[in-house]
Order: sequence, then C-alpha cells, then structure tokens
Amino acid sequence: MTPGRAKIEAMMARGAEFLGARYAILGGAMSWVSERNLVAAISNAGGFGVIACGAMPPELLDKEITETKKLAREPFGVNLITMHPDIDDLVEVCARHEVGHVVLAGGLPSARSIAAIKAYGARLICFAPALALAKKLVRSGVDALVIEGSEAGGHIGPVSTSVLAQEILPEMRDEVPVYIAGGIGRGHAIAAWLEVGAAGVQLGTRFVCATESIAHANFKRAFIRASARDAVASAQIDARLPVIPVRALKNKGTEEFIAKQREVAQLLDTGVLEMNAAQLEIEHFWAGALRRAVIDGDIENGSLMAGQSVGMVKSEEPVTAIIETLLDEAGDAIEVHQAGVMGA
Ligand SMILES: Cc1cc2nc3c(=O)[nH]c(=O)nc-3n(C[C@H](O)[C@H](O)[C@H](O)COP(=O)(O)O)c2cc1C
Repeated sequence: MTPGRAKIEAMMARGAEFLGARYAILGGAMSWVSERNLVAAISNAGGFGVIACGAMPPELLDKEITETKKLAREPFGVNLITMHPDIDDLVEVCARHEVGHVVLAGGLPSARSIAAIKAYGARLICFAPALALAKKLVRSGVDALVIEGSEAGGHIGPVSTSVLAQEILPEMRDEVPVYIAGGIGRGHAIAAWLEVGAAGVQLGTRFVCATESIAHANFKRAFIRASARDAVASAQIDARLPVIPVRALKNKGTEEFIAKQREVAQLLDTGVLEMNAAQLEIEHFWAGALRRAVIDGDIENGSLMAGQSVGMVKSEEPVTAIIETLLDEAGDAIEVHQAGVMGA
C-alpha cells in the first residue's frame, strides 16, 4: 500500500468505524438502482451500500433486505423517505431485520420516526441542507449527517457542495461524523473533503454504471456518453406551479416537461384548470419516470437522474475497481499535497 493510500484510510477511520465498513464511502441510495445487487457489491468491496426504499411498500422492503442479506457479507443500510405514507411500518421492517443504519431522506424526519429508529438501536443518518437544520437534527438525536450539494443527481437543494460544506463542516465535524455528497467523481475530491474534516463521502452517480448495477444498458450508455453540462436541474417556468428540482440528463422528457408547464399555466390563466388540479398535473408528470429509464431503458421519456460527476463515468466496471480507483486517486492526491507542503 502506498503511504498516500494508508494516509487516506487512516483519515477515513472514524467514518468507516461508524458505518462498520472498511472505507468511509457510502453508496448513496438511488431509487431502482440501489437494490440487492449493487448494495451488496458496494458493501462487499469495503464501502457501505444503502438500499433505496423509495416508494416500496413494507412487504417489498422486507423482501429486498432479506435478499440483500443473502448476498452481503458486510453491513449495509436502508434509506427511507420521510414522507412515505407507511414510514412507521418501514421502520418496523428495518427493526425486525436489525438494520444497523437507517438514512432518512426527503425532508425533516418526525420525532416519532427518530425515536422508533433509535429505540431498536440503529444509527440514524440524515441530510443537513443548512447549518441551523444540522444543529437541530443532531439535537434531536441524529448520529451522523450527509451534506449533499446541488451537483448531485436526483432531488437536490439550491446550494453547492462546497458552500454547504464550508458552512456546516467546521461547526459539526466534532459533534458527529459528517459525510460529503454531490459532485464527487474522482478520489482527489475525496482527499480534499477528508482534509477539511469530513468523516467520509457519499457517491451515487459514480456507481450507476457498475457491472453489478441492474440499471438498463441504455441507462448506463447514456451516463457513459454524457458530460457534466448534460446533467441539468429541472426548470420551473411559472411561479404558481412549483417544481421540485431534480438533476437529470437532458432528454425529450425534459423538453416535454417545459411544454407541459406552459400548457398547464395557460389552462390556469384561462380558468380551465383550478390551482390544485394544475399543480397535481405538474407533480404527476414524472411519476414512474425513473423506473421507465432505469428498468425499461426508455431514455427518451424516462427520468435520467444523474449528477454533474456523470462526465467522469467513462465505462462499465466492477464496484471493486471503482472503489479501489477512488482510494488510489485519493492517496495520490494526498501525497502530492504533502510533497507540496514539505517543499514549501
Ligand atoms: C439515479 C439516482 C437516484 C437517486 N435516488 C435517491 C433516493 O431515492 N433517495 C435519496 O436519498 N437519494 C437519491 N439519490 C441521491 C444519491 O443517494 C446520492 O446522494 C447522490 O447521487 C450523490 O451525488 P452524486 O450523484 O454527485 O454522486 C439518487 C441519485 C441518483 C443519481
């Protein structure tokens, strides 16, 4: 092992220990993509795989955890969406399986969810979209934080990773482990985040084209072809019709979404549609669209959720190769940095 690589692993020790993994690299949960195969592969390669529950009902999550356990030799986590209508039952499924780490995403978790997760002994990880919320989450018992900037794929907030990290890391890194997500495609970025006190990192986009990922060949091809500028945040064109920002590759669906917003705004103007109905039309536009792209391979009309780091995804390769490359790159970066410091 190179001295740089050893240094990186030492810098990751706290974040890795918290996860019970060899490396402090979380495979960010991705709906439809982060299922048993990818999750187990990430955990078995030394990272920490996380099942994306998404809209699954409790019975499906139960099955997914059971199947993941058969494949994974190392611990993995489960990501639940806070506003899922069956959130209590989903937490119960995690408790029954003694899932060691639960990630709550998609909004501030309720006190009840936090209590239920902690009551069965799991560690709770939440996303901190601002410093005040980071503090509030930790006060309410959250064990670790993920800071995810707007470079990330999927649902995003408005602030970049580097700004969020500057705001939150110095204040929170001594309180709880903080993992950085959004825009990480190479190990150099991992080294940089560790150097400023991150406990570890979370990557999503970089794992989509793993050999073990069940994403459709068309979906993977679209990732391999794309560059950073193709991964754009969904645009809202009318103040009355809110659009939850999602970063995805531009395609026919993206254009049609703009046209749809225009059409619905006009129907609002002329009184043909009421506000509620209009907003629902917008909300429902992408329903089922990620599944259509990831599973069915419809990359024209489906949602190609991807982060800006997609430009650094060049080929399909096994998870082990991805993780080892990231760690080696991080090791090289730290050696170069230290040589610079010594030479100065
Ligand atoms: C296709 C796709 C689907 C995603 N689905 C979810 C999800 O269901 N829940 C969630 O918390 N995050 C989701 N994310 C975000 C990832 O977990 C991760 O935080 C993000 O991809 C990290 O940024 P990166 O894409 O720049 O690596 C998704 C991301 C992608 C690319």
